[in-house]
Amino acid sequence: MKRMLIVAGTLVLGVGAVWAQQEVAVQQDNLMRSQAKSMYGVILKMTKGDIPYDQKAVDDAIASLETDVAKIAKTFEANPKQDVVNSTYGSSPKVWENKADFDSKIPPVQKAIAEVKGKITDVASLKVAYTAMNDRCTDCHETYRVKLK
Ligand code: HEC
Repeated sequence: MKRMLIVAGTLVLGVGAVWAQQEVAVQQDNLMRSQAKSMYGVILKMTKGDIPYDQKAVDDAIASLETDVAKIAKTFEANPKQDVVNSTYGSSPKVWENKADFDSKIPPVQKAIAEVKGKITDVASLKVAYTAMNDRCTDCHETYRVKLK
């Protein structure tokens, strides 16, 4: 009986650990998705004319990117060792083999955001800002993001 309880306890712990790791992966993915919402859902769409230029929406998107990017290093501290269920993209194991290099890809994004902040006034300047920022996102994705499907 005692043995059975121990086995059951271990199973519960095991399931809990897997769930916790999925939570970590989901948090990491949600942070990236939030950045994508500002970058692609607002900024890119405006540069393409899919939605009308809106100064407040631009300023909000930049502010939100600023907040999100500052969270990357900490949010990716733990290695969940699993991908979000059904996700298109996952993290390469290299993130945690080389966390210092991964983290070094963050300040260039912050610098690009700081450089365009307050200077976007129309679609033309928004286009320039989009490329400047997105190129820095890509610098990290090239090494540390993997396409799952
Ligand atoms: C320091 C590295 C790094 C930087 C900088 C970075 N990303 Fe990511 N991004 C990742 C990793 C790793 C993944 C894959 C894991 C995940 O989705 O959580 C990812 C995934 C994504 C995804 C796919 C999410 C999904 O699963 O659908 C999007 C979209 C994304 N990033 C947008 C951005 C944008 C926009 C920026 C710039 C503002 C950015 N990222 C900056 C590392 C980075």
